[in-house]
Amino acid sequence: MADEKNGPLGNDLSRRQFFTKLGLGSLSIAAVGTAAFSYQYLEPNVLYEPSPVVNAGKPDRYPLDSVTLDVNNGIYIIHSAEGYFSISAVCTHLGCLTAWKQELGLIACPCHGSKFEQSGKKIEGPAPKPLPWKRVWINDDGDLLVDRSTDVPALARDSFVRV
Ligand code: FES
Repeated sequence: MADEKNGPLGNDLSRRQFFTKLGLGSLSIAAVGTAAFSYQYLEPNVLYEPSPVVNAGKPDRYPLDSVTLDVNNGIYIIHSAEGYFSISAVCTHLGCLTAWKQELGLIACPCHGSKFEQSGKKIEGPAPKPLPWKRVWINDDGDLLVDRSTDVPALARDSFVRV
């Protein structure tokens, strides 16, 4: 026989327990949300990126008068009569990766047709600027290093490495 005082859901104690548990559950969810938000807020907002310095290996890997594209790092390593230097391989128009055209003796962008000399100087196309030169040096192990984050003056004496 049903207890009329407690209604069709059962006795009063179980209803009270139900709402107590519901309240505790809601508080628990709110606490977890607050903890997650606090952790995000307190954690350092740091973007971990790879080092801008590229180890291009031993200079003798690059024969005289060669232009070598490093696809992974977006740079060219160029060995000219003046020495080794590096320029960005990323087009200054909209950022496409350029390619060295050995048969034409120039660097070409496949996206909108910009062309550059081996020195990075623009020949034609919509690119607004030349390909920037990057700092190069030889480390203690004799490896050629390129700092992609540091531009240096094009064709300047100090912008070359001589071995
Ligand atoms: S991205 Fe190179 S010409 Fe447009």
